[in-house]
Amino acid sequence: MDKNVLVTFKKVSFKEIFKNLTKNFERGKIYLILGENGSGKTSLLYLIQGLYKPCTGELFFEGKPYDYSKKWLYDLRQKIVLLFQNPDYQIVGLTVKDDVAIYPKFLGMSSQQLEFKVEEALKKYGIYDLRNRKTDEISYGEKKKVAMAGLSILNPQVALLDEPYSGMDSEGRRFITDYILDLKSKNKTVIITSHELGEFVSLADEILYIRNKNLLESHQLEETMPIFIRNILLLAKYGYLTKPLPEEILYSGEGEKKP
Ligand SMILES: Nc1ncnc2c1ncn2[C@@H]1O[C@H](COP(=O)(O)OP(=O)(O)OP(=O)(O)O)[C@@H](O)[C@H]1O
Ligand SMILES: [Mg+2]
Repeated sequence: MDKNVLVTFKKVSFKEIFKNLTKNFERGKIYLILGENGSGKTSLLYLIQGLYKPCTGELFFEGKPYDYSKKWLYDLRQKIVLLFQNPDYQIVGLTVKDDVAIYPKFLGMSSQQLEFKVEEALKKYGIYDLRNRKTDEISYGEKKKVAMAGLSILNPQVALLDEPYSGMDSEGRRFITDYILDLKSKNKTVIITSHELGEFVSLADEILYIRNKNLLESHQLEETMPIFIRNILLLAKYGYLTKPLPEEILYSGEGEKKP
């Protein structure tokens, strides 16, 4: 068993969404998952967090099979955290301050440490002035910042971020990018789903595309893929995620055809 492998899918099938999916997610890597609406991005993250259970096949964390018992799931939630696509699913506290504190408190952080960490996170995520506001009276983007602040206090091995940029202003996007880079510097794993590629493309170590109930890697280019996706996968394949793809590759027949 490779010590770098954290999460493994072994021949996982789930409803009509995934069929025989086999994939390793490794320590310290940033993954970007692409796919059209309804292709299964959120379902993939829910499977990793144990919110969904495969119909057939198995998942493993550090080589041990998921067992879905209450205690096991409690342990897993400390190791794998999830930023929900919809912040309303995440927020449970009555006030902003309560909410940011809720998960670390649940996971047993001491109250003195908690108070300090909550205050620090509220300031870092630009929501200190909202700290006493009711969570059902703040905006969508503000809720996402509250959810991010809550996550930032935890110390997971894997962070699952479901469309983290959606509904975020430029400040919110910067917070998310900083969070991802911070996790990366600590050798943590980050799995991001997104429609907006810009910044994530340059952060990602691997780009995957959900296609035909499976995950395609950047070397598995297909003629019938949308041009836009094909070009992104080409960039990944040739290690050009942070540089423009040279014309000879772009127009070689693998990428978009020259007009
Ligand atoms: N528990 C479930 N049981 C059956 N079908 C489901 C379940 N959850 C989601 N689906 C369906 O599975 C498909 C994949 O949904 P999912 O939310 O994972 O897609 P997505 O790629 O995240 O979409 P979006 O880009 O809109 O967020 C959709 O057709 C959805 O209606
Ligand atoms: Mg989704």
